[in-house]
Formats: sequence, C-alpha cells, structure tokens
Amino acid sequence: MIVLGIESSCDETAAAVVADGSLRSNIITPQPDHTAYGGVVPEVASRLHELHIIPVVEQALAAAGTSIHDLTGIAATYGPGLAGALIVGLNFAKGLAQSLSLPFIGIDHMEGHLWANFLQDPPTADSYPYLCLLASGGHTHLWRVDGVGQYTLLGRSLDDAAGEAFDKGARLLGLGYPGGPAIEAVAEKGDPQSVDFPRPMKGSPKCDFSFSGLKTALYHHLRDLSESQQLKRQRHIAAAYQEAIVDSLLDRLQQGVRLTGLSRVCVAGGVSANARLRNRLDDWAASENLSISYPPLEFCTDNAAMIAMAGYVRLQAGDRSSLDLEVKPNLSLADHSRPSQTSQGHAQG
Ligand code: KG4
Ligand code: ZN
Repeated sequence: MIVLGIESSCDETAAAVVADGSLRSNIITPQPDHTAYGGVVPEVASRLHELHIIPVVEQALAAAGTSIHDLTGIAATYGPGLAGALIVGLNFAKGLAQSLSLPFIGIDHMEGHLWANFLQDPPTADSYPYLCLLASGGHTHLWRVDGVGQYTLLGRSLDDAAGEAFDKGARLLGLGYPGGPAIEAVAEKGDPQSVDFPRPMKGSPKCDFSFSGLKTALYHHLRDLSESQQLKRQRHIAAAYQEAIVDSLLDRLQQGVRLTGLSRVCVAGGVSANARLRNRLDDWAASENLSISYPPLEFCTDNAAMIAMAGYVRLQAGDRSSLDLEVKPNLSLADHSRPSQTSQGHAQG
C-alpha cells in the first residue's frame, strides 16, 4: 500500500509518502513569514498553504519515485488546528482521493504525532501495550496505547500545554518563537537549580498536567528584577524554567508507569525534541529498567511523515473516512479513540 499523507494544521505545508510501512519521502515547507509577529497568523497561514500545497505534493511524489497513479491511499490531517489552514490540506486530499477513486482517511494530528515513533521501525504485535507522552504546542496528553486506534487517555494538561509553557516563557524572557528551541539553546550554559520554580501537579495521584502556574511564577520572578539583571541571569532563569517543565513531565510519566505497570514508554510531539528532557527521561528509564523511545528529531515537530504513517496503519486496519469529512479545529483524540477493554489506569474524557 502506497499512502500520500498531507499535513497543514498550522504553519507547515507538508506531504510525505509511506510505502508498505516505510517512509519514502518527507517534504516540509515552513512559513517563516510569521516570525515577525511572534506567533502564527491564521490568515497568513491559509494563504501560504494555498501557494505551497501543489509544489509540496509534487516534490513528495518525485522524491519517493512515485507517480500519482501508483498511490493506493490518501491521508490528511482534519484537526485539531487552525480551521483555514486545515481546510487547504484536507480539501486538496479529498479532491485527489475522489479524482483517483482512492480510499481516504482523515487523521487526528495528535494521532499522527503518536505514530512518529514508528517511522523507522513499523509496529509489531510486541510493540503494545505502551505508555505515550504527547507533548506539543497545543496539547499535553498521557496515553495508554493497545493497538491501532486503541488509545486510552490517562491524563492531560488542565491548562497550558508543555510547548505552550515553553513558548510563553520564551516571550517573557525576550527570546524568539518557537520558544522551546530558544529556551533550550539559552539554557545550555545555565544553572537549572538557580531558581526554585514550582512543579505543578507533582505527586498528584492522577496523571494530569498543569503549566499555567509555572508561567505565572516566571512572570513574578522577572518582575522583581531590573532589565539588566534579567539579561545577566537569562541563561540561569531559562535553565531553571526548563528544568521545572522537564521535572513535571517526568513526574507525570512516573505516575503513569506506577498506575499501569507498563514498561515501554514513547514520547512524541515538538517538546520531545528537547535534549534536557531526553537526558532526564533516559536516566530514569535506565534506573527503572524501562524501554523508552523518541522519534528522530525531524519527526518530533510537525511533519507529514507521521500523518502518512498513521494513514497507512489506519487504512491497513480497514478504516476509511467519508469524503464529506469536515475540518475539526477542536478535535480531541479522546473523543474518537477506542479505549482497550484490557486497559488499566485512570481514564479521563
Ligand atoms: O508538535 P509541534 O511541532 O506542533 C504542535 O502540534 O503544536 O510542537 C510545537 C511545540 C512548540 O510549543 C515548541 O516551542 C515546542 O514544540 N518545541 C520544543 C522544542 N522544539 C519544539 N520544546 C522544547 N524543546 C525543544 N527543543
Ligand atoms: Zn504537532
């Protein structure tokens, strides 16, 4: 089966081809035009997707050595994301599927992130069950995964997502967007113990996350410093802030392992690119004899390879979407996944 995947939920126009479970091509056209605004401007994003979608799909097919007529399935993100941005990729994909009479599947962007862990080694029966931390700019979720489409939500952020905490923290620190890589770079030479930021939800019996109090603590800390003190201490504050986010994610994962007894852990989404997070999680996994994996760096942030892979496994499993599928900007994976009968732990809706 040769699947074309299309992703346009935010500010990346992306297309990729997965053939028989192997990634054949992965093209991303980012939209640097938003940098000056310090965030993504929805109207600008939609217009740029319109400009980029055809060349990006053509490049993905050419790089895969595939003709449009070799395709046997089409997948596209239908939510969550910016409505005007999603419409461009979804309608293009549906039009292509209809004109070529191909099966079509709409993919939840967060389910795509989940499948990024299998872009190098396709899943086998032994891959399940496992615990998956999805930490992106819009969502922070802890899942138990029992198979294709069988996901049980164990916990989610009650307010900001982990990536959002990085982005908002970076803005307060006067760093660029996206905030995660900006904070990570500055924090490299800083002392993570220099400020005692709170670890929201630490020790909670559930697996939920919370990051908005941390952002407020950073705001108060900076407010008490002069501009020159802020600049002088920037790397230490950034390192301590990053450490608080990492500690919170680690604590919630530890609780997930305690509740489920699972020994396999995957981490995905933009925040999984963070080197400090990976180091801390690797040390924990080694000390607890757990297996832990992350997508290669290029597949942590938004891409179409993960959408093509999710589309491939869903189409292989016999799942199909109707061509009247509409974009769902507030789509929640918890609302359309099938919790496993055997799943343990505290599931939430
Ligand atoms: O998954 P993603 O590319 O897009 C969404 O689905 O939201 O995640 C983007 C988020 C942003 O908040 C960004 O600051 C964060 O991931 N991020 C990082 C790193 N790279 C991206 N956070 C921490 N460290 C990084 N290296
Ligand atoms: Zn994403």
